[in-house]
Amino acid sequence: MSTRISFILNGSRVTVDVEPWESLLDVIRKKLGLKGTKLAFCRGACGGCGACTVIIDGRAVYSSILPAYKVDGRNVITIEGLASPEGLHPLQEAFVEAGAIQCGFCTSGMLMSAKALLDENPDPSDDEIKDALRGNLCRCTGYVKIIEAIKLASKRMRRPAGGG
Ligand code: FES
Ligand code: FES
Repeated sequence: MSTRISFILNGSRVTVDVEPWESLLDVIRKKLGLKGTKLAFCRGACGGCGACTVIIDGRAVYSSILPAYKVDGRNVITIEGLASPEGLHPLQEAFVEAGAIQCGFCTSGMLMSAKALLDENPDPSDDEIKDALRGNLCRCTGYVKIIEAIKLASKRMRRPAGGG
């Protein structure tokens, strides 16, 4: 039997009927039409690749293994909520500039984990970045450029507005 849930998705309230077995990833992609969150290497079987990462109440979470009904009343951000009308998020710009994107399957999940990290810790060390990304697999980049991109974004986001 389906349940009606209501939650904040990228700043707007959405209401949707979900089945008890439906994952948040399926609801986001199939019922709400946001295709940026990916089902990738682990196929959502038990979690582990991180391509489906979204932010729920400030924490990076695998949406492929989370029953959708659990987000009732909560605040969810997907990759579609990262950019603003003014342009790309500094993390997105830095990923492009640093060459941290190749096939792109991991990228939306990486960005969401990175955003959750920088929101909580604006100036993370390399080890803290690696720790925040331990649940996100990338089969292309070797991670070095991803870490460089997060450090670049961190530096820019900490720079005072108008600062050089
Ligand atoms: S698709 Fe969700 S963790 Fe891999
Ligand atoms: S860019 Fe291809 S898996 Fe990360």
